[in-house]
Amino acid sequence: MLIIKQYPQELEIPYNLLLDADPSKKLVDKYLTCGILFGAFYEKETAGVCLLIFHNKFSAEIINLAVLEKYQNKSIGKSLISMAENQARLFGCKYMEIGTAEPLVKYYEKAGYKYHKTIKNFFVENYETPVIDNGILLKDMVRLIKNL
Ligand SMILES: CC(C)(COP(=O)(O)OP(=O)(O)OC[C@H]1O[C@@H](n2cnc3c(N)ncnc32)[C@H](O)[C@@H]1OP(=O)(O)O)[C@@H](O)C(=O)NCCC(=O)NCCS
Repeated sequence: MLIIKQYPQELEIPYNLLLDADPSKKLVDKYLTCGILFGAFYEKETAGVCLLIFHNKFSAEIINLAVLEKYQNKSIGKSLISMAENQARLFGCKYMEIGTAEPLVKYYEKAGYKYHKTIKNFFVENYETPVIDNGILLKDMVRLIKNL
């Protein structure tokens, strides 16, 4: 059975997943200090993670989302997004933001997110090494937003 809950502090930080979504350990560590980490668990195995941060009273962001390859396409990503959205609603947020790259824009649009803006060369300027997703070199960040 799949259980989604806040990631228990006594467990090791699931860097394998977090770095799959964001290859910068520096950024991942920065967001871990100020965000809420959720985990999706099958028995004791961590199948997926989602990291939620808050920009202000009204706006939150899913800053990291990753599902182990063997558990992908089983709606775990969607469930983690819903969990993060519910948490943000409980905190009174009105918007959820996501920054991604072109290959995943449709994925988030299916979850109700709408195009907001493009930050040109974000992945080139903010990462020390090239960021490659499924063989595609990522350059621009696409920002999406959803009313909660
Ligand atoms: C993106 C990711 C979190 C999706 O999680 P998931 O649990 O596999 O996704 P779900 O089961 O909720 O959704 C499956 C749907 O998303 C689509 N999808 C999954 N991964 C996708 C990808 N990389 N690109 C485009 N579409 C994708 C599937 O085709 C499927 O579409 P359908 O509903 O029309 O059949 C997962 O593929 C992943 O961890 N990728 C690597 C890390 C990453 O890129 N994270 C996002 C950083 S912004």
